[in-house]
Amino acid sequence: MAYRHFEAIEKNVGLLGILIAIMVSIGGLAEITPLFMRAHEVRAPSGVKPYDPLRLAGRDVYVREGCYLCHSQMIRALRAETERYGHYSIAEESVYDRPFQWGSKRTGPDLARIGGKYSDQWHVLHLMNPRQVVPQSNMPGYPWLATARIDAQDIQARMRGLRKLGDPYSDADIASVPDAVKDKTELDALVTYLQGLGIRNEPTTMPSATPATDGGEP
Ligand code: HEC
Repeated sequence: MAYRHFEAIEKNVGLLGILIAIMVSIGGLAEITPLFMRAHEVRAPSGVKPYDPLRLAGRDVYVREGCYLCHSQMIRALRAETERYGHYSIAEESVYDRPFQWGSKRTGPDLARIGGKYSDQWHVLHLMNPRQVVPQSNMPGYPWLATARIDAQDIQARMRGLRKLGDPYSDADIASVPDAVKDKTELDALVTYLQGLGIRNEPTTMPSATPATDGGEP
């Protein structure tokens, strides 16, 4: 009996297609729904704060200039990665990153923990013209950032928007923007942002810095 039912389905391509679609949807939901449920559980650890005005401005420059087209900010839990870049990235570090900059395209190195690796001056030279400090570099220069000013009102509007999404900015934080970005260039902002990556956001409750020696899953 059952065999005859299967035969009926197999001989009817339309019915087979519909039943396959139903099965795939159930499987998909079973995988996706728990992720949506768990998204709310990802909370900022105590050491992780929303971006201050200058860093927020720097992050905007990073996104606008498309740095993510060549740089990821996501260290995978593989030994080759953790030995090169440091502790693998965890979700809580990115709670204030909207949109997050994880990515997977690496023409250049991952930047998730670039903060503190070089001096501010190194970053300035490198961003003006990378070949000043890395002769073989094929990264483009961004010299116009050195003269571009930051619009305080724009950053305030961004902070208000992020507050609506749940980032804990106070009125005082927003009022502090004009002073924080006064006389700063977009280059200053970008360097400040880079110098905070992986440092400012590093959770205080990081799991052990030595992942499994087989370089396996976290
Ligand atoms: C066309 C690809 C490309 C783009 C776009 C790009 N980079 Fe790079 N970047 C590289 C390459 C390749 C390197 C490695 C050589 C070097 O250090 O210059 C690099 C290196 C770096 C480093 C040093 C990393 C290390 O660990 O030594 C930093 C910091 C950096 N880039 C920041 C940026 C920022 C910020 C932007 C956007 C304003 C940007 N990059 C845009 C390709 C790119």
